[in-house]
Amino acid sequence: MISDRDQFGRDRQGDDLYQLVETDFDAPPLPGEVRMTDDLDQLIDAVAADLVVHAENCVREFGDFHLALSGGSTPEPLYERLMYDPNYRRLPWRRTQLWIVDERCVPFDDTRSNFRMIRESIVDHSDIPPDQVHPIFAESASAAEDYESSLKEALAWRERGQDRLDYVLLGMGVDGHTASLFPANTALHEPDRLVAAVHHKPVDPADRVTMTYNLINAARFISVMVSGSSKAAMIDRVARGNDSIETVPIKGVAPLEGQLKWYLDREACGVVSSD
Ligand code: 6PG
Repeated sequence: MISDRDQFGRDRQGDDLYQLVETDFDAPPLPGEVRMTDDLDQLIDAVAADLVVHAENCVREFGDFHLALSGGSTPEPLYERLMYDPNYRRLPWRRTQLWIVDERCVPFDDTRSNFRMIRESIVDHSDIPPDQVHPIFAESASAAEDYESSLKEALAWRERGQDRLDYVLLGMGVDGHTASLFPANTALHEPDRLVAAVHHKPVDPADRVTMTYNLINAARFISVMVSGSSKAAMIDRVARGNDSIETVPIKGVAPLEGQLKWYLDREACGVVSSD
């Protein structure tokens, strides 16, 4: 049974939904809470279980659940597990409003489209009503403005103070970017906008649309899922270095009132397995 001791799952979160295995290494000193696992499989369980509890708590409290998901390769197996694992099938998709954290300016059938991946892994296999699925039409010149308007309109149905995203799932690139907030990009300093258009030459495609810190940091719960040894050096830099947001954008993720939780596997922590 899930504990509902805390309406936002602050104490127990999803631990009752999966077998929590304690790790034998120390947590990097990151801001917020850090959950470590031995491998990616357990990492997926840890994120999925917390996500389900948050969704249920929000639906109980507000009647709906505003969820923003990232693209990239790390969360894809998480999205698949949400669909096929009976423990997580109970996520109340019929009450969920599904948003996209960032999108590449490509057609929806392009393999680089974040929405394509999320549609194929979740939307096509859940009972979420189509009008509660909110892709970013990134190829449109007004994509950022349009997406911001849709978000404001949808969130305005809520009471003041609760008009924010409930859960934002982020990843992290080896260069320390998150969402499509890249080093030295003007979107890092967007004073008011909730969604911004981005051009960042080194990545493919260079043109993107992204949620900004303003929207992300207002969320009730921000989870950052990082896996694999290629990310270990950056995790260490985020935890122990003195970089600015300008060079390591994920350091700008700092919830205003909500919670921040990192989900890291052994490799992302730079710890070599003892066996
Ligand atoms: C995107 C993402 C991006 C991603 C990181 C990590 O559209 O690419 O939203 O911020 O989370 O780049 O990507 P990987 O999981 O593929 O390493």
